[in-house]
Parts: sequence; structure tokens; C-alpha cells
Amino acid sequence: MSHVFAVTSAKGGVGKTTAALALSHGLARKLEQAGSKESVLLVDLDPQGHCAPCLGLQPERCAGELLLGHAHPEEIIIRADRSRQSGPSRPNLYLLPATGHLAIARMQLLADIVAEALLAGVGRLSPGQPSYLVKRLQDLFADLRQVFAFVVVDYPSPLDLFWEAVYHGVDGCIVPVKADYLSAKSAIEHWTRPADQKVEALVPTFVRARQVLSEQTLQELTRHFGSKRLSRPIPASVRVAEAPAAGGQTIFEYAPNSAPARAYWNLVERVYDSKV
Ligand SMILES: Nc1ncnc2c1ncn2[C@@H]1O[C@H](COP(=O)(O)OP(=O)(O)O)[C@@H](O)[C@H]1O
Ligand SMILES: [Mg+2]
Repeated sequence: MSHVFAVTSAKGGVGKTTAALALSHGLARKLEQAGSKESVLLVDLDPQGHCAPCLGLQPERCAGELLLGHAHPEEIIIRADRSRQSGPSRPNLYLLPATGHLAIARMQLLADIVAEALLAGVGRLSPGQPSYLVKRLQDLFADLRQVFAFVVVDYPSPLDLFWEAVYHGVDGCIVPVKADYLSAKSAIEHWTRPADQKVEALVPTFVRARQVLSEQTLQELTRHFGSKRLSRPIPASVRVAEAPAAGGQTIFEYAPNSAPARAYWNLVERVYDSKV
């Protein structure tokens, strides 16, 4: 049984990519520790393509080619293992990378949805309507489910029609929320809609101990979502920001005993234990 998660949020700069990297690498390590031969795939659906450099990788091809049907997954997916180049060993972690090409692919796909709706005489596009893009993503995720035990999608804001199609295809969402007023407000406005049954966990990020605003934000999030849906807060820490800059390491490689590594590991175990 395979599981597909999106790490996403309506706001930028809240720690989505950081959480997607930690979650995918942590799940890969959990499988390894359990003696499993199964693998994890990190899918970068942000045209900024930051997952690759954060893992020390330099891809040439892009997830956009897959979405447009111009390539097969095995042509684009790369290994995150760098042990042969004297880098970190990640035997069961893989990346479907993004490059700037993804921005063009996204525009093309959204144009196709609008054209499809016009041809069908649909006056107004509704979220999750059966469309070419929903079908394409469902087919893609179905192919990936055959190969990987976990698929973790790094999905950027804005949460537009493209997101609606991705949302349709994933099993659950992990939502990082920065511990400040506007990030919490945006999370509360966006993720308490009736449609959001898929929220697996909200992850408070950039949390500062003994800072009044951080504490107030955590209380506000707990009040709205309940303590069960909140995962352990990730502290603000320069170690998190240093890890990708240190030759593309994850937090578990760069500072395995740090407070943020322990907090991310807690998220990994929560997701792993609920699914395996
Ligand atoms: N807990 C943290 N403490 C300090 N810096 C962090 C933390 N989480 C993320 N960062 C840094 O903040 C920036 C934005 O994080 P990122 O994961 O790229 O956000 P997003 O993907 O939501 O835009 C990055 O430079 C990242 O290294
Ligand atoms: Mg990002």
C-alpha cells in the first residue's frame, strides 16, 4: 500500500520545502531501519526547483515534461544517493526534480483546462471537476504508487486550479504554518473549509520559545484545529537554514541531534506509524 502526501500551504516562505525534504528523507530512513527494500520519492512541483540543490543534486530534466506527457517517469527521476561521489548515502530516496521549465508546463496545462471547459460549455470552472489535468495527475500518481512506498510532493503557493487537481490525487496534506499572525490567519482561513478532510497534520514552524507571538499563534492554531492535528513545533534555528547550504544536506545529516531534527523526526514517525 503506497501513500502520496503533499506538503503545501497558501503562504510562501513557511518551511514547505524544508518539511518536504525532512519528511521524504526521514521516511526513507524509517523504511531502511525496518529492513524494507522499499523507496521514497520526493516530487518537486515548485518551478523554483529548490529540492534538488537542497539535496546537492543538479538535474537537467523536469517534472513538467512528465506532466505534459513528453517523457516517462524513469527518464526524469534521479537518485538522491550521493555516496559514490563521497556525499551522503541515501540508498532509497529518489527525486522527481523541477526546473524553470515547470512554470511553462503549468501555464500550458492551465490553458488546456480553460480550453476544455470552454469546449464543454462550462461557464465557471469548479474545483476538482473531471478534467484532463486531474486525469493526468491521477495516472502519474498511479504509476508512482506502483514503485514507491511513499511519495512526498513539495507544492508551492498559490493554491490554484493546478493545486485542485493535485489535491484530488493525493491521500493527505501536511501543512507547515509559520508561527506568526498572518501565516496562522491564512492557515485558519484556508484549511478549515469542509473540503479539507485530507489535512494529515499542521506543522508549526519557526517557533521561538518564550516569544509571546509564537505562543499566541500556537494557542490560536490549537483552538482552531485541535491539538491532535498539530504536530510538534519546529523551532526557528539557524541549523535548519545552514543544512542545504552545507553541500546539500538534510537536517538529519547536518545536525541529527539538534532540536529541529528531533521535531522533524517526530513528524516522520507520526506519518510513518499512521500508515504502516
Ligand atoms: N525552522 C527554521 N528555522 C530557521 N530557518 C528555517 C526554518 N525552516 C525553514 N527555514 C529557512 O527559511 C527559508 C524558507 O524555507 P522554505 O522551506 O524554502 O519555505 P517554503 O518552501 O515554504 O517557501 C529557507 O531559507 C529555509 O532554509
Ligand atoms: Mg519551497
